[in-house]
Amino acid sequence: MSESQNRVIDPEPKPGDRLDHALRPTRLADMIGQTQIKENVQILIEAAKQREEALDHVLFYGPPGLGKTTLAHVLANEMGVNIKVTAGPAIERAGDLAAILTNLRAGDILFIDEIHRLGRVVEEVLYPAMEDYALDIVIGKGPSARSVRLKLPRFTVVGATTRLALVTAPLRARFGATYRLDFYDLDAMREIIEVAAGKLEVPAEPEGISAIGLRSRGTPRVALRLLRRVRDYAQVRADGTVTPDVAMQALNLLNVDARGLDEMDRRVLRAIIEKYNGGPVGLTTIAASISEEPDTIMDVVEPYLMQLGFLERTSQGRVVTPAAYEHIGLEPPRQKQPKLL
Ligand SMILES: Nc1ncnc2c1ncn2[C@@H]1O[C@H](COP(=O)(O)OP(=O)(O)OP(=O)(O)O)[C@@H](O)[C@H]1O
Ligand SMILES: [Mg+2]
Repeated sequence: MSESQNRVIDPEPKPGDRLDHALRPTRLADMIGQTQIKENVQILIEAAKQREEALDHVLFYGPPGLGKTTLAHVLANEMGVNIKVTAGPAIERAGDLAAILTNLRAGDILFIDEIHRLGRVVEEVLYPAMEDYALDIVIGKGPSARSVRLKLPRFTVVGATTRLALVTAPLRARFGATYRLDFYDLDAMREIIEVAAGKLEVPAEPEGISAIGLRSRGTPRVALRLLRRVRDYAQVRADGTVTPDVAMQALNLLNVDARGLDEMDRRVLRAIIEKYNGGPVGLTTIAASISEEPDTIMDVVEPYLMQLGFLERTSQGRVVTPAAYEHIGLEPPRQKQPKLL
């Protein structure tokens, strides 16, 4: 198992997160933060309802744990329709998709998670389904084979991806609306933790909540996981209340630092600083030097480091900023000579 899978601040889902399900908001009004997306989605829903049509196809993208799956379920709830959940890698053959599509009813939502991982052949079945609500199937083999077009009910595809760049252009073009989810600000994080603490019946002081919020990487899934770990600590080592002290002690024990970085983030930064003089250095080189998967670094580590202004992606590679040196406690190299004009 690579270290990335043990991280308490890993935004990817883990078995212990099953409880999140109960904490997942079901209505748009219960979703915290993401104001702009919520407003856009609200309009989308109302317009479709007024016209008594199926929702337009919607694509959500952004780092893991920010609420893409939650939004898909909220859409279904608000529209009062069924949602069929699947994922790109789960649809192996064109026939698998055909089976799913022919079982949908008018208005239903087909949620395709990790939509960037759909196979090419499967994707080509999806194009006419999304555009014309049609399914082309080939009957027979060889010279006598013929293609038949089946009509599908008007349904809605909701796609989710952490990698918009890997979604092919023709697929992207078939979505009527595309929304990017961004990291949550501290106020939203505090509110999410407060609401969750209430539901879990964990007594928590406002400053204790803030301490968790500050270290949750602007990611609800991470916040909920840290809250559970802090709750355990409070229960075992204190009187059960999440005070600022209890929160800090628990989080320090988990090796999550004041900005929400863990050992893996620090290893990435240190590798670039110590082995490559702060960069620029390519992603695969960094990954190899710390024995991690480039995909993990790109999806899970980098977005947050960039959000903090600790890392930049340039055309020559990754570059660590002076703020990162400071955070790690290292001296940044002296300014390079400014170019003479
Ligand atoms: N806006 C929100 N308000 C309150 N809780 C939220 C919000 N967004 C997400 N959550 C909580 O965070 C958890 C993770 O969100 P979700 O599973 O929707 O993320 P995701 O973007 O689909 O992640 P992935 O890319 O890994 O699939 C949810 O179970 C939910 O409890
Ligand atoms: Mg999801």
